Amino acid sequence: MDKFRRNPVLWLIVLGAILVYSVLEGGLLGDKKGDGTATTLATGVGIGGPFALVDQNGQTVTHENFAGKLMLVYFGFTFCPDICLAELMIMGQAVDLLGPQAEEVVPIFITVDPKRDPPEKMKDYVAAFHPRMVGLSGSEEQVTAAAKAYRVYYKYMPAKKDGELGDDYNVDHTSYIYLMDRSGNYLAHFTKGQDPQAIADGIKKVL
Ligand code: NI
Repeated sequence: MDKFRRNPVLWLIVLGAILVYSVLEGGLLGDKKGDGTATTLATGVGIGGPFALVDQNGQTVTHENFAGKLMLVYFGFTFCPDICLAELMIMGQAVDLLGPQAEEVVPIFITVDPKRDPPEKMKDYVAAFHPRMVGLSGSEEQVTAAAKAYRVYYKYMPAKKDGELGDDYNVDHTSYIYLMDRSGNYLAHFTKGQDPQAIADGIKKVL
């Protein structure tokens, strides 16, 4: 405690860290709450599976396009005011921290809001986070099926309570980065606000 009392700068750093953590963890506009810890579960819990979606170049892609690579998969939406931005940034950084092994991993962002996130929109968006990030959209049915396979929860929330959905709705959604093996099977997931290095270390264990 003496160290803190003598050094107000330390206090500022601690307060800053708490603020950043609460913004990431709580979300400003209602992303689902994570428990803030990296979690590795046993395989075979039923997360993941076949999907058919449309990539940022308008091409239909399925899980088979990624066979032989590890996938990092995140579901969200481009209008997300905070959490998706932070998580995709973390995902891009984690991939780069793999160095030469980064090529073994495909970072994938899947929108749960295909109406407002057509492929051309996804193209600009994913490019901001990583040059190799794949942005997947598709029909409502395709996106619903993919989200269901990954057990992702999402819900459209009108801007005004009890109002029409309109065009400026928010989307409440699960926020996990899923790590899938070279056959598309679930390996692990990372909760909100993880250190990119911790994610990279987790990936390296299975590379
Ligand atoms: Ni989001």
